[in-house]
Amino acid sequence: MSFRAAWQQALYGPDGFYRRERPAAHFRTSVHASTLFGQAIARLAHLLDLDEVVDIGAGSGELGKVLRADGLTVLDIELDDELPERLSGLVIANEWLDNIPCEVVEWDDEGMPRYLLADATPGPVVKGNDLAWLDRWWPGTPGDRAEIGAARDESWAGVIDRLAPGSVAVAIDYGHLRAARPPYGTLTGFRNGRECDPVPDGTCDITAHVALDSLGGTIVSQRDALRALGVSATRPPLDLAQAEPMRYLSELSSAGEAAELLDPSGLGGFGWVWTAKGADTVRRASRALSA
Ligand SMILES: C[S@@+](CC[C@H](N)C(=O)[O-])C[C@H]1O[C@@H](n2cnc3c(N)ncnc32)[C@H](O)[C@@H]1O
Repeated sequence: MSFRAAWQQALYGPDGFYRRERPAAHFRTSVHASTLFGQAIARLAHLLDLDEVVDIGAGSGELGKVLRADGLTVLDIELDDELPERLSGLVIANEWLDNIPCEVVEWDDEGMPRYLLADATPGPVVKGNDLAWLDRWWPGTPGDRAEIGAARDESWAGVIDRLAPGSVAVAIDYGHLRAARPPYGTLTGFRNGRECDPVPDGTCDITAHVALDSLGGTIVSQRDALRALGVSATRPPLDLAQAEPMRYLSELSSAGEAAELLDPSGLGGFGWVWTAKGADTVRRASRALSA
């Protein structure tokens, strides 16, 4: 069995990790870090004149709660839901693609990439579309390891194909670009808030960073996108502490949460990969997401 098949079974099989577990119990995403994230997504929807948001890979639906409080209609999509034929409004996929199992490969001493098997040993030589993907997006040398992004590209293309005119889709994830792929890949696990070995036995989350550039779309860092949407980590002035202590404390706490979302070596370093349908929508999205 390939590592990818074992990964699929471990996360989404009948007794898989995501059939039993809540993401927030095992790792922290932007939606867990602060409601400022959801408020910025709401602001993006309003700037685009969209009143509907589709949240793909919604987890426990924390993002939707913030968006509904802002007057938006939200459709949460999780494992047992069909992706609708047509996707209208603002489509968000926060940390969805990194959980889509993909082939993991290692280059042997002769420089041939080989699929990793479920027991983490090298198996058959990579051929066909997977080889073409590696040649284009992630070439390697003996001893290197890579994750083939084709499965993520295909899932994201399925979203973009369904996108209605006037709509915008944004994939938000940790990732890398062709110019700086990690030579040994990024496959890892998470259990109870800690990183662990990615053993495909259903006891942990298994994830790998996303090749953001192969998805197609415009890439902006989360830091730049959130700043453009008005998220600021500026601390309140000290004299506010005297004048209005409760407001000072609330603004201080908000600045701390914003700093976590904007941190270039953490959540702020995530990529937002967006696609808009229609020339006017492209212009508006570009304006909304540029600093
Ligand atoms: C890392 S969690 C992110 C949850 C949430 N978006 C957040 O930011 O906290 C990934 C989620 O994607 C869901 N997921 C994975 N594959 C999916 C699919 N094909 N359709 C819908 N949801 C999926 C998983 O069940 C899991 O809840």
